[in-house]
Amino acid sequence: FGSGARAASPQDRRPGGGAGAEASADLVFDPDAYAESTLTIEDTGGVAHEVVYRFHKVASYVAAPVDATYQSLNVSVPVRIDGTAVDATGAPILLANAIGGYMPSSVANNTGIVATGMGGATSRQALALAAGYVVVEPGARGRTLVDASGVHYGTAPAAIVDLKAAVRYLKFNRGRVPGDVRRIVSSGVSAGGALSALLGASGDSPLYDPYLKAIGAADTSDAIFAAGAWCPIIDLEHADMAYEWCWGANPLSGGAQVDPTVSGELKAAYAGHLASLGLRAKGFGALTARNLDAYLLRTHLEPSATRYLAALPDADRVAYLAANPFITWTGGTSGGASGGASGGGSGSGSGGRAAFSWDGFLTHVGARKKNAPSFDGFTLGTPENNLFGTGTTKARHFTLYSLRHESGGSARLDADIPAKLDLMNPMHHLVENLNRDRAKHWWIRLGTKDTDTSLSVAGNLSARLTSLGDDVDTAYYWDAGHGADQDPGAFVEWIGEVTG
Ligand code: DHB
Repeated sequence: FGSGARAASPQDRRPGGGAGAEASADLVFDPDAYAESTLTIEDTGGVAHEVVYRFHKVASYVAAPVDATYQSLNVSVPVRIDGTAVDATGAPILLANAIGGYMPSSVANNTGIVATGMGGATSRQALALAAGYVVVEPGARGRTLVDASGVHYGTAPAAIVDLKAAVRYLKFNRGRVPGDVRRIVSSGVSAGGALSALLGASGDSPLYDPYLKAIGAADTSDAIFAAGAWCPIIDLEHADMAYEWCWGANPLSGGAQVDPTVSGELKAAYAGHLASLGLRAKGFGALTARNLDAYLLRTHLEPSATRYLAALPDADRVAYLAANPFITWTGGTSGGASGGASGGGSGSGSGGRAAFSWDGFLTHVGARKKNAPSFDGFTLGTPENNLFGTGTTKARHFTLYSLRHESGGSARLDADIPAKLDLMNPMHHLVENLNRDRAKHWWIRLGTKDTDTSLSVAGNLSARLTSLGDDVDTAYYWDAGHGADQDPGAFVEWIGEVTG
């Protein structure tokens, strides 16, 4: 790394600390430093493409890294696809984070683009490369990092600060780095999806400036063009309430029930939270604890089941409906006996529609993954308790409910917690502190059997962005679990459409 880099002392990690952004010369991208390699990439139609690409390793995207193992990135640039030269100078840039569980994420030892994704399928990055886009893979600090003096240096807001610094690095290098830095599209799954959504929602927010300055981030914009978020684990300070509102009636695996008092109190509190959010949705008016289930059913879940069932061969759909009588299938036009409002019909896919009740759907999903409270654990044992650790404290409470349950009715959250929650929550930048510099194009995906958080979390994000007038493509994947991505090819096409 360049001469300006040095190991940061502990106080450099604090916002407003001594390390500055003065060393911008260190942040100059070198277009001539790359290794060229060839990769065979199978597209979602099963067609193999031979892609020659340049792989650039950037030792750090900040001038004063706290830990360059994490604060580094790789840039992959296609130069030849199926034997034809391509020029990616003006191509969109996919900024694909690989963060999971709010854990540290390093790309420092990678020697090429990450080519395989979940279940051995072609990764989103590789599909984007084969489509002619530039792919940037950033690392970021995460919650479990501890230095020699016991300081937790990857807890909130380190990961989002790092992703913003990576965006700033790209924008600072406009014209040097391949791709159109005005067309950065972020992607991520789960905690990575949360951070992708947060990157989209919080672009150019001044709230992060002291943190960015402390690590020597380039002094430029960190706004991005579009954000893709798969099963985003966001709105952490309201996630316990949302979880009980959604999954409160569902048993844990093995059939055990959660504490009904805790579940009931949290569920009841969600009504007040929703009222304060002031969400609206077409056909529903104000979204409240009374109609949020209907909103999810009509806007996301029934269309999801409809798409799934319509795409099945007739015999498979008949079998699915027979095994799942909670679904009413109506309106199939041809190819078998037409289903009626009584349900279980076998009408063909074309024109058919699925309908069901909220209770029927919940029973179908079955076991919930998390106990109550799901996020701010009473015994500080969740990933999120660790995410809100600070200094030499590994884990803290971030909701009054869990804090007071453990420490008494007059206990108060640590003074820095409210601001850190805002720094980590896209909803803050979309509701209380509406950010005009947010991304205006959104891709939101979630499996209907994903019980890592409430199904309303992504639904609320989608509803809010839609009422703001943003371009929002939201779909729930029927019967899919945590981390599912069933239409990666469509996402890559969508990037082309929105950036075109
Ligand atoms: C992830 C999953 C969780 O259930 C959670 O609480 C946080 C993060 C993840 O898969 O990234």
